[in-house]
Amino acid sequence: MSTVIKGGTVVTADLSYEADVLVEGGKITEIGQNLSGNEALDATGCYIMPGGIDPHVHLEMPFMGTHSADNFESGTRAGLAGGTTMVVDFCLPAPGQSLMEALAIWQQKSGSACSDYSYHMAVTWWGEQVFNEMEEVVGRGINTFKHFMAYKGALMVDDDEMFASFQRCSALGAMPLVHAENGDVVATLQQKLLAEGNNGPEAHSYSRPPEVEGEAANRAIMIADMAGVPLYIVHTSCEQAHEAIRRARQKGMRVFGEPLIQHLTLDDSEYAHPDWDHSAQRVMSPPFRNKQHQDSLWAGLQSGSLQVVATDHCAFTAEQKRFGVGDFTKIPNGTGGLEDRMPMLWTHGIRTGRLTMNEFVAVTSTNIAKILNMYPKKGAVMVGADADLVVWDPNRSKTITANNQQSVIEYNVFEGKEVTGLPRFTLTRGKVSVEESTVKAEPGHGEFVGRDAYPAVNKALSKWKEITAPRKVERKAENMPAGV
Ligand code: URP
Ligand code: ZN
Ligand code: ZN
Ligand code: ZN
Repeated sequence: MSTVIKGGTVVTADLSYEADVLVEGGKITEIGQNLSGNEALDATGCYIMPGGIDPHVHLEMPFMGTHSADNFESGTRAGLAGGTTMVVDFCLPAPGQSLMEALAIWQQKSGSACSDYSYHMAVTWWGEQVFNEMEEVVGRGINTFKHFMAYKGALMVDDDEMFASFQRCSALGAMPLVHAENGDVVATLQQKLLAEGNNGPEAHSYSRPPEVEGEAANRAIMIADMAGVPLYIVHTSCEQAHEAIRRARQKGMRVFGEPLIQHLTLDDSEYAHPDWDHSAQRVMSPPFRNKQHQDSLWAGLQSGSLQVVATDHCAFTAEQKRFGVGDFTKIPNGTGGLEDRMPMLWTHGIRTGRLTMNEFVAVTSTNIAKILNMYPKKGAVMVGADADLVVWDPNRSKTITANNQQSVIEYNVFEGKEVTGLPRFTLTRGKVSVEESTVKAEPGHGEFVGRDAYPAVNKALSKWKEITAPRKVERKAENMPAGV
């Protein structure tokens, strides 16, 4: 059984050209002119792009006394509906829990995935067991380890733990990820705000100002440099963190920054909404920022100092959000976005002239595949690559509404926004899973994508270690103080 995608323009991170694409056995088998297959998909007027990869999602994740509402089935279905053909979820051991035990739980949960997926492993505590298990985790095709610098008393790791884990990553050829917010400062500000009677969702954003993120980003970068390891900073939301990333990259360090589509397109006025539910439903960490920070993020995507766009999809129902009535610190942190990332980025990036189509492919797919070490299996329109493809209709429009979304929650942070640019077809390993507004995703079709350790050269690369490599100074007895 072969499928040919005919009459479209192939758009990759480097090139745009007219060609047909032949798909067989889940792979791209030929790209050329006048191809034929058992089944044909009409791509006239459309762009044939690598399917989107979302490098940051939380599906059915236990968090803040509950668990995120979308599971691997509804989450990947939402992704496919919006042109995203792969997600990378976070395997989250509870503090004290074995990493391998947590991995087994995640493997079970992801059995219902409709598209391919991979995991990052979170390091939520530190000890000899974690040190040892990290090697086993890398052996299972998980080469990225996430560290929360916030969520004090729950998931947060301290600097000594982070430094130890980063060094371990360096030795194993793995890359650390960080949620960069100073958790101690956040906890202090939260208590201060509550004591002053500020208990509404707007106080969530007051408790997490951009400086909190900038400080943590700088600290993580310096710690990564001392450990000799690259670093990936998730949900970069503000100029202070972006500035730290720019500076590090300019010095030759491999530091990556990941803005979210939410931070690019929604701002902090959402927290001033008179309706409590509206504001609480937008509570996430880091919070939405003002226009200046948004401009900084767009500039980063344009100049390459920020490399990828994610969602951090972590959806909670309205009822779950209400756990925080009277105390904003109890509002589960997280927002959805999986279905809307690509259409929103196309609308606000391509149609505004901020990004080229090739840059769009880079930041939604190819850069992610390269940074996470799964290119060109993923992220490529290339013979031999997985046939994870989106046939993108730049003229199809819709108004985003929770009424016909795939996510199981009953609201959408982009409610009412018009988007132009939507999938006509989405293919996951060759299977057509979306045809215009019909989603034919098949639970269980998704497979785990293993990612090998990085080659040894992929290090942080500042000269710090060579310059200051410890050298013991040998001293003669006559140069020693008396009595020693
Ligand atoms: O608020 C957020 N971002 N929730 C999901 C967990 C995380 O911090 O990424
Ligand atoms: Zn649960
Ligand atoms: Zn986070
Ligand atoms: Zn997250």
